[in-house]
Amino acid sequence: MSNNTVVFSLFGMEKYREALCAAKRHESGIIDIHIFPDKETLVKIETDLRNKSVIFIVSTDRPNEKIMPILQAVETARSLGAKNMGLIAPYLAYMRQDIAFHEGEGVSSQYFASLLSTYFDWVITVDPHLHRWHSLDQLFNIPAKVLHADRLIAEWIKQQVAKPLLIGPDMESSQWVEAIAKTSQAPYLIVEKTRFSDTKVSATLPKLEQYPDHTPVLMDDIISTGKTMIETIRHIQAYGIRSITCVAVHAVFADQAYEDLMKTGISELATCNTIIHPSNKIDVSSLVIDAV
Ligand code: R5P
Repeated sequence: MSNNTVVFSLFGMEKYREALCAAKRHESGIIDIHIFPDKETLVKIETDLRNKSVIFIVSTDRPNEKIMPILQAVETARSLGAKNMGLIAPYLAYMRQDIAFHEGEGVSSQYFASLLSTYFDWVITVDPHLHRWHSLDQLFNIPAKVLHADRLIAEWIKQQVAKPLLIGPDMESSQWVEAIAKTSQAPYLIVEKTRFSDTKVSATLPKLEQYPDHTPVLMDDIISTGKTMIETIRHIQAYGIRSITCVAVHAVFADQAYEDLMKTGISELATCNTIIHPSNKIDVSSLVIDAV
C-alpha cells in the first residue's frame, strides 16, 4: 500500500486510525457523519481522494445502525475519485447465523458478507465467529484476511492469572480455548451448553475437583447477552470458587449484559479492543496494523 492512501475511522476507532497512519505514513481522512432528526444520515468527506486508495476502520457491532453510514461513506469516497476501498472491521457482525437453524430462516452471515463484498475491495477482521463456515473465503467475493488474538490473550492471561484453568462455555468456543491453552500451557475444559432462546441457556460443567488450586478463566469469542458466561459462572460458584476471570475477544454487550455480568461478582473481566468498551484490556491494534 503506497502513501497514496487515506484512512478513515468511523464510530470510535480513532486510535486505530492514528496508529495505522503513524506506522504506514498514510493520510488521516476527515469525515463527518451527520444524523438528521429522523435518523437518516449524511456523509461528508473533507479530504481530497482523487486516485487515492481508501481504508475504512469500523467495527460492525450494532450493524443495523452502522451499515447505512458505512455504505454511504464508501459511495461518497468513490464519487470523490477514490479507487480502492479496504475495510478493517475488527469485529465482523452477523457471523453466528451461519445456517438456517429453523425452517424459513435466512443465513445472515452470507447476506452480510455479500453486501460488504459489493462495496469493498478487501477486508481484514479479527477472530470472526467461523463455525460452520470454515473460511471467510466461503462468504466473501473479495480477499478477506482473518487475524487471531490468541497470542495476545494468552500473554495477558499469563501475566494476570496464576495457575489458570481455561473454561470454554460452549463447544463453539473450543477453537479459541484450545489455541490459548496451548500457547499459555494451561489446562482447559469445555462446557456443554444448550441454548433455548436469545436469553436462556443451560450449562453442564465437567468436574472441577481435579484443579483445586487453579483460577477458572472463562474464555469465549463473543459476550452478547452475557447469559452464556453468567450461566457458567453460576455453576463454578456452586463449587465455592470465588476468584473467576472472564475473557472475550469481542465485547458486544447487548443492553444490560455488562452490568449483569459484573453483578455476578467475578474478580476480573478482560476483552480485546475489537469493539471499544470499558472492559478492553487487550490491545489488538498492532495485529491489524501489521496486517495492512
Ligand atoms: C456462540 O456460540 C458464541 O461463541 C458465544 O458463546 C455467544 O455468542 C455468547 O452469547 P451470549 O452472551 O448472548 O450468551
